[in-house]
Amino acid sequence: MKAKPLLSLFFLFTFLMNCSHEVEQIELKGIIPQPNSLIKAEGYFRMGRGIGMEFGEEFKESGAFLSEFLESAGISLMEGTDMVFVKDDALKTEAYELEINPNQILIRAGSDRGAFYAVQTLRQILPPDFEGSLRDIEFYELPCLKISDAPEFDYRGMHLDVGRHMFSVNFIKEYIDALAMLKMNTFHWHLTEDQGWRIEIKKYPKLQEVAAFRKQTLVGHYSDQPHQFDGLPYGGYYTQEEIKDIVAYAQARFVTIIPEIEMPGHSQAAIAAYPELGCTEEPVEVATKWGVFEHIYCPREETFTFLENVLDEVMELFPGEYIHIGGDEAPKKQWRECQECQELIKREGLADEDELQNYFITRIEHYLNSKGRQIIGWDEILEGGLAPNATVMSWRGTSGAVAAARQHHQVVMTPTSHCYFDYYQSENETEPLAIGGFLPLEKVYDFNPIPDELTKEEAQYVWGAQGNVWTEYMPTAEQVEYMAFPRMLAMSEVVWTNPDQKDYDDFVKRVEQFNKRLDVLDINYANHLYELNGQMKVEESKAFYELESLSQGKTIRYTLDGSDPDMKANLYESPIPITESVTLKARVFEGEESLGDVFEQEINYHKGLGTKIRIDKSAHKAYSGSGAVGLINGISGSDKRYGDKEWLGFWGEDITITIEFEEETLVNSISTRFHNGNGQWIYSPRKVLISFDEDSYFKEYSINSEGILVDFDAEFQEQKVKKIEIKIPNYGAIPEGNQGAGNKAWTFIDELIIN
Ligand code: ACM
Ligand code: ZN
Repeated sequence: MKAKPLLSLFFLFTFLMNCSHEVEQIELKGIIPQPNSLIKAEGYFRMGRGIGMEFGEEFKESGAFLSEFLESAGISLMEGTDMVFVKDDALKTEAYELEINPNQILIRAGSDRGAFYAVQTLRQILPPDFEGSLRDIEFYELPCLKISDAPEFDYRGMHLDVGRHMFSVNFIKEYIDALAMLKMNTFHWHLTEDQGWRIEIKKYPKLQEVAAFRKQTLVGHYSDQPHQFDGLPYGGYYTQEEIKDIVAYAQARFVTIIPEIEMPGHSQAAIAAYPELGCTEEPVEVATKWGVFEHIYCPREETFTFLENVLDEVMELFPGEYIHIGGDEAPKKQWRECQECQELIKREGLADEDELQNYFITRIEHYLNSKGRQIIGWDEILEGGLAPNATVMSWRGTSGAVAAARQHHQVVMTPTSHCYFDYYQSENETEPLAIGGFLPLEKVYDFNPIPDELTKEEAQYVWGAQGNVWTEYMPTAEQVEYMAFPRMLAMSEVVWTNPDQKDYDDFVKRVEQFNKRLDVLDINYANHLYELNGQMKVEESKAFYELESLSQGKTIRYTLDGSDPDMKANLYESPIPITESVTLKARVFEGEESLGDVFEQEINYHKGLGTKIRIDKSAHKAYSGSGAVGLINGISGSDKRYGDKEWLGFWGEDITITIEFEEETLVNSISTRFHNGNGQWIYSPRKVLISFDEDSYFKEYSINSEGILVDFDAEFQEQKVKKIEIKIPNYGAIPEGNQGAGNKAWTFIDELIIN
C-alpha cells in the first residue's frame, strides 16, 4: 500500500524534470511569400519562456504585434536585448532584414511597416502552434540565419465582394489578418452591388432600409433553368462604427482599405432605394439573381449630388488616398433611350454613350481629386477616354493594362485568367458549385503581372496585382476561405517575390507545411495538393493512361476493378496500358498513409481510340480542351462543366469532323453529347449529318434539345468503313428573349463514341 504514493511522487518528479528541460528545436519549414535572400548560418538561438525585447516608438505596431504573438504562445517579455528592433534609414519603407544569431534576434527596418514584415517572417519561422495557443515548452531553438527582403511590387492586394453575400466584421478582420501575414498591403472592399448596398450612409437612410436587403436569392447556378429562388430575405450593412473599427484594425497591420462604390453600373440596389437616380425613374427591386443589369445611374445633376454626398461620408471613413469607383459592366441601353442623357451628350459635345461614361467618371474624379483623393476604376473606364489621373484595374485580360500603361496611367493587374478566385480550382466533380472557369494553383503562381507587350519603361506603370473574390457562389465565410486559400498564398508570392526566386515545386512543399498553420488558424483552405491528374495517350495504336500528382516524393496506387485503392493496389510506375473499358481509381500515398481523395476516371474503350481525327475549324482558344484528339480518347467531359480538358467549344461556326481508321472497321453506332447551357449562350445543334467513306450522301439526324446536356445517338446497319465525316451546323443566332439574344450561339461537343 505504501509503494503507491511513492511511485506517484517519483513519476511526478520525473515529469517535472522532463518538462523543465524540454527543448523544441525548430526546423525551417519555408516562408510564404519566399524571401528574396535567405542565408542559413550555423547554430541556434535559444528562446526561453521569458525573453528580453526592445523596441522604440517608431516600431510601435510591429513591436506590439510580436509581443502579443509571443505572449499568446506562453512566452513572457521583459526588458532586455535578446530581441531588438533597429532603425535603418537605408532600407526602403517595406524592406527589412532579419538576423537570428546565437545570442540575439535582430530586426532591421526603415519603418514600422518594414519591421512588421520582418515580424511576419519570424512568425512563420516559429511552429504553427504559436498561432494563438499557450505552449508548455521550456526552450525553443531557432535556426540561425540572415534574411534580406523587399517586395517586387508596391501594390499587393486581395479583393472581397460583400454585395452578393455579406460576412461578419470578425471575418473581415480575419481576412485582413491573412493578408498581413502574407505581406499584402491592400484590401479592396467591394461594398455596393445590384444585390445589396453594404455601407451605412447617414444622409440616405433608404440605402440602409431598402438597398441593403433583397427579398430572396437565386438557388443553384445561374445557367440552371428555370431560375429558382430560396424565398428568404437576405441583407445587412456595415455601420460606420464597424467600418471605423475595421479601418483601424487594418491600419495596425499596414493594410490600406480601398472602398469600392460602384458607378454608373451595378447600382440597381441604390436605384431601388431612390428610383430618381435612374433614367426611367420607375420602381425597381434590389436584384435577386446574378448578372449585369440595365438600371444604371442617370448622369443628371441630382445624381452627382447624391454620389458626392455618399463619397463625402466614404472619405470620412476611409483615410487612404484611393477610392474605387467601379465603372465596369454598365449597359448603355437606358442612356440611349433617355432624353436627359441624350440632351447631355449634345450639350457637352460628346460623341456617344461611351463618352458620356467618360464624362461621368471624369466628373467624379474631379470631385475626388479636389478632396485630395485619387480614383481607381475597372478597365471599362478606358472606353470613351480615360479620366486624367485614373488608375486602371485590368480585369478583362491585359489589353486594358497595356493601353493604360502606354498612356502613362498606373495599372493594377487582375485578369480573370489568373486572378479570379471565384473560378474552379480543380476539375474534380466533387468541387462545390462555382461560377465557372478553371484557375488552378499553379496558374496563379505562374502569373507575371507585367504584360509581355510592355517595354521596360511602360512596365513601370504596373503598380501590382490582386486576387478577386466575387461571392455569388460563396454564401458563407467557410466557402470564401475555401476559394481564397491556397490561391492567396500563390498571389502573395507573385507580388512579393522576385521572379528569379520563384519555384513552383518548392512553393508546393511550403504550402504543404503552411497548411498546418492554416489548420491552427481554423482557415478552411482547399487542399488539392494530393489530387491526381490523368490523361490518355495513344502510341502506335496502343492506349495508355498516364497519372501525375502535384506533390513530390509520394507514391500512387491504382485499381482497374472499381475498388478503392489501398496498400495492396498496383503501384503506379509508368502509364497504364488500357485494352478495354475500365473504371480507374487511384490515390496518393505517403508510406502506408493515403492522402487526399480517390481519383476516379471512367475509360470508355471504343473503336475511335487511335484513329486519325481532323476538325475543319480550331476550337475557340478558351475552350480548346485537349484538342481534336480529346474527342476520341475514351474519356467523356464533365457532366457539370464544359471548360475542362474534354469538351470542345466553337463560337458560331459550322464544323466538319473527319475520322479515319487505320483499316476498314465494322461500325454500327456513333454517339456524343452536346452542352445546352442557354444562359451562357451555349446551344445544342438542331441536327447532325453523317456520311461514310467518300459517299456524298449525308444522313441527317435531327436533335431534340432538352435539358443542359443533350445526348446524341446515331445507330445504323453495321458496315465496314474507313472514314467517317460528321457535319455539325451551329444553332445560329440566339433567339429573342434569351440571354445574349442576337449573338452567335456556342456549340460544345463531347467525346465521339464509335462502336
Ligand atoms: C468585374 O469582374 N466585373 C470587374
Ligand atoms: Zn438618363
